[in-house]
Amino acid sequence: NELKSTMERAAQMKDEDKLYKREGILYSSILSPPETLDKLQELEAREDDLILVAYPKCGFNWMLSVLSKILNASTGKNEIQLERLPLVEFLPPDVQEKLAEMPPRRLLGTHLHPNNIPPSFFTKKPKILVVFRNPKDTLVSYYHFMNKNPVLPNAGPWDKFFSDFMAGEVAWGSYFDHALAWEKRLDDPNVMIVTYEELKQNLSEGVKNISGFFSLPLTDEQVSSIAGESTFSAMLENSQKSHGNTGSIFFRKGEVGDWKNHFSDAQSKQMDELFQAKLAGTNLGARLKY
Ligand code: A3P
Repeated sequence: NELKSTMERAAQMKDEDKLYKREGILYSSILSPPETLDKLQELEAREDDLILVAYPKCGFNWMLSVLSKILNASTGKNEIQLERLPLVEFLPPDVQEKLAEMPPRRLLGTHLHPNNIPPSFFTKKPKILVVFRNPKDTLVSYYHFMNKNPVLPNAGPWDKFFSDFMAGEVAWGSYFDHALAWEKRLDDPNVMIVTYEELKQNLSEGVKNISGFFSLPLTDEQVSSIAGESTFSAMLENSQKSHGNTGSIFFRKGEVGDWKNHFSDAQSKQMDELFQAKLAGTNLGARLKY
């Protein structure tokens, strides 16, 4: 209901008022106003927190659902319903304070660049799961998302959005800045990176690796049932229950390679060049297949 009223409020706003810039990065005025982001720097992580990080449209909601299912199955508790966790940067200051009372293990999510993540997320050393996706499909997904989500301005014509994304002039900033920053933390034992493409290829393996990383052991049966419930079609079918009417915003096509239906040859080449310049030769770059 809170989400519904936010969406309704957002629908009344002018597009040009929906984003504002903070230290060079665009944020949602309605969900992440300055007082929320200021307060966030004080958020105290705990060592046993489960942190989920993703650049927008890389598969955050997918992994959130997987992770909450792993948590429920492994602990035997069924009351944890985290299909729709707000990102920490959406929590107003008073709600952020209430996080201190939340029993362990807390699941906290964010789209923030590592430089803007609360410092305790690194000093307290909770495990951080990072989801990435190839930039071409991420761009396509972001384009459609902006056109459906009233909180964000309309993406505008495709060619304009393409340039905005390439320049990092979208909410939460540049895809490539995020990717490069996480690439540097790839060997950190508290960080695990999964990619959308690898998860599409072998979801059971992904579920198993994630459960191991967070020390939330599962039986083989639990692994395969979680993977079965977390395919795109299964989640889409369940979306009315999990996401209400906002489901169609978060579940679109769920495929690798949809960029081929959107990019011109010149745009594809331009992205290849940027990818080459930024991520060529990196371990993360090698895993972002498109
Ligand atoms: P598409 O727009 O390409 O379909 P996020 O949750 O980070 O906003 O990412 C949204 C993207 O993940 C959307 O991509 C959405 O359809 C896709 N998605 C959601 N659930 C999925 C699932 N179970 N399997 C594969 N993709 C999924």
